[in-house]
Parts: sequence; structure tokens; C-alpha cells
Amino acid sequence: MSSPAAVPVETETSEPVLGDFGGGAFGIYVHVPFCATRCGYCDFNTYTAGELGTSASPQSWLDALRGELSTAAERFAALPSATPEVATIFVGGGTPSLLGGDGLADVLDAVRANFTLAAGAEVTTESNPESTDPAFFERLRAAGFTRISLGMQSAAAHVLKVLDRTHTPGRAVAAAKEARAAGFAHVNLDLIYGTPGESDSDLDASLDAVLSAGVDHVSAYSLIVEDGTALARRVRRGELPAPDDDVLAARYERIDARLTAAGLTWYEVSNWAAGPAAACRHNLGYWDGGDWLGAGPGAHSHVGGVRWWNVKHPARYADRVAAGGLPAAGWEALTADERYTERLMLAVRLRTGLPLAELDEFGAAAAGQIVADGLAARHEDHLVLTDRGRLLADGVVRRLLVP
Ligand SMILES: C[S@@+](CC[C@H](N)C(=O)[O-])C[C@H]1O[C@@H](n2cnc3c(N)ncnc32)[C@H](O)[C@@H]1O
Ligand code: SF4
Repeated sequence: MSSPAAVPVETETSEPVLGDFGGGAFGIYVHVPFCATRCGYCDFNTYTAGELGTSASPQSWLDALRGELSTAAERFAALPSATPEVATIFVGGGTPSLLGGDGLADVLDAVRANFTLAAGAEVTTESNPESTDPAFFERLRAAGFTRISLGMQSAAAHVLKVLDRTHTPGRAVAAAKEARAAGFAHVNLDLIYGTPGESDSDLDASLDAVLSAGVDHVSAYSLIVEDGTALARRVRRGELPAPDDDVLAARYERIDARLTAAGLTWYEVSNWAAGPAAACRHNLGYWDGGDWLGAGPGAHSHVGGVRWWNVKHPARYADRVAAGGLPAAGWEALTADERYTERLMLAVRLRTGLPLAELDEFGAAAAGQIVADGLAARHEDHLVLTDRGRLLADGVVRRLLVP
């Protein structure tokens, strides 16, 4: 079935008009919109207990999540193709570990009650180091989770302080080891680099710590100063310097060199894994243009070229679910041009690269120049970023798209 016409909807009452599953991997993302405190750099859709007051709680959120999953399963059952088995689940946030092991087991049960998991499905949860302990990881393993992603950010106390992170420098590595001891073969540590005040030796200490943890996956993101955050206000007032592009590039190269030497190789510009089995299959589903349901406040979904996004506030989300229907704030059917742009933006960042045959005439000519400039190379009919090209991935995408 072809996709419906593009009808962006701004109201909070219209449901997306779904086309059909696209035939690729199917995943489910669950958004947990709670944090103990708000980190000054973060603009994710998350709320502290103080901000929510009595308007929403983990229990009201879980009840609403069950409702949304049930409605989504009904809508999918009406599509021409059978709903695919769920290949991957990713519980993200916010701080999923605030729900505790039992709460996260309830989340997984809610998904299982409405969808069929594929054999060998990847089931990840994000966790903040300070809200974990050995019993938590053992409970998750017993419940069926297969992968843990921990927000470490840095091993330097003063960097964690600038980021408003509440865990102590050693806690993330200890948590990763506890997860492994509980039977998790797949454990990720998230790093942030380029925080004001971070030195080269701070970064080295963070990398030493990451490598001592024995994890099979690392994500490293440069600190983004997001508009509207406390960090942006501090930078604007001159209290903190903005991250410097040259420093960020040098740090990225340092991270890549150390991780590569330790057997963790890049498979996406910001992600390294100890071999193909250690890559995050859920994120690969996004990057390969697969289908996914995003459940929970503010979550985004994509099925067969139709994208929709949920209302953001947990109380409004629960109201919408209680009223029946999907809690979408808006939706759009991607045009061919939008799909092309999105495909390029995602595929260029992958080590597998972009099939050259997918480029239009302008893109093919630009690719030749990009190769000549040493930013990408041709590998088996794919355009693959070089080491230097990875530092300039966004610019490469722009050159492929814009005259
Ligand atoms: C939004 S968090 C959710 C999981 C968990 N609460 C945590 O902090 O790890 C996922 C990742 O996004 C990173 N992140 C959030 N805002 C960022 C920013 N402005 N720049 C770079 N990384 C950011 C977090 O630090 C974290 O590693
Ligand atoms: S704990 Fe994670 S989601 Fe929560 S505010 Fe900090 S970075 Fe954002």
C-alpha cells in the first residue's frame, strides 16, 4: 500500500493515518520521562518529581503506557501486513533505572502482553549509575533484558560537577562490572567529551576507566549546548566557555584511537563496538530506516514512511491515552525528498556507508569531489567516511544534498 499524502497535523486530536510496515526490522522504544534531578545540559523530555507534583507518577505513566501499547497493537493489526515480531526493545529516558528492577520488568511485561518478541530479541534499558546495584541488574536479567546502557559521561569529578551529574567518578565503572557479573554480555557506557574545564588528561582518565570496565560498547558524544538549558544560560553569561571545535575534533580522534587500539571499532560516527554482535541493533534499526513504535510521552514513531510524535507532558499523555486512540501531537507522511535526505543523513554516518547507487545525479557528482577531498572513500560500491570525514560528517551530508 502506498503512503498517504503528507498532511502535517498540529492539533493534539488527530491520529496518524498509517500506511503499512516497510518490511525492515521492527523495534519498540519506551520513553521513561522521570529524572531525580535535571542535568544542566540536557533538553530531553523528562521531569523531576517536584515539577510533576501530583499530575503524574511512575504508576500513572505505566498505566498509560499499557493503554498506548494496546491501542498501537490494535491499529497495527488493521494494517495490510501482519505486525512483525519485535526484534529490539529500548527503554530510554529520562532515567529508566528510577523505576527499579520490578518497575522495568513491568514495562517489559506490558510490551509482551501486546506484541510478540522475536527469538533472540535485543532488550536494552538505559540506567543512571547512581540508581543501580547488583540486585537491580540481577532482576533485569531474570526479567529478560539483554543489554544495559549506562550514562557515565566522565571519570573526572569536576567534569561531572559541571554536567550536574550526581554519581561519583567510580560508580559508572562499578555499575558496568555489576551488570556483567549479573550475566549481561552487552553493556554500553556513554561518554560526553568537550565539557568546559575538561582537559586532555581528564579525557584519558575517562578512557582508562571505560576500558577497565570490560564493556563491549561505547557511545561518545560531544557536549551540545542546547538552547533553553541551564548550560546555555551559563555559557551566554560568560560563566563557562563554549566547547571549542578544534578541541572537540582532537578529543574525538583521541577517543577513536584509544578505543580502536582496545578492540572497540566504530560502526557509527559516535558509536564503537567489540564486533558486529556487540553493536546496538535497536539503533541500527533507526539508522537503517526500519519501523519502530515509540511509546511514552514525547516519543517518536515511524512506520512505513509515516512519522508521528506523542504529546510531551506525562499528565496530558495519560489523558490522551485514557480518551482512547494514540496520544499523537502530530504526524507526517514523508515525501520522497524527505526520505532521501533522511536516508543520506543516517547512512553516511555508518561504517557500512551509503550505497552509491542511491545517490541522485547531483549527489553522485558531489560524492566524486568528496572522495577527491579525502573525506570519504569508495568501498564496494559504498561511500564510506574516512577518518577525517568522520570529523566532518554533517558537512559531507550537506555537500551531497545542497548545491
Ligand atoms: C538523555 S540521556 C538518557 C539516559 C540517562 N538519563 C543518562 O543520562 O545517561 C542519554 C544520553 O544523552 C546524553 N546527552 C543528553 N544531552 C546531551 C547534550 N546536550 N550533549 C551531549 N550529550 C547529551 C546523556 O548524557 C546520555 O548519555
Ligand atoms: S539524567 Fe539523563 S535524561 Fe536525566 S536530565 Fe540528566 S542527562 Fe537528561
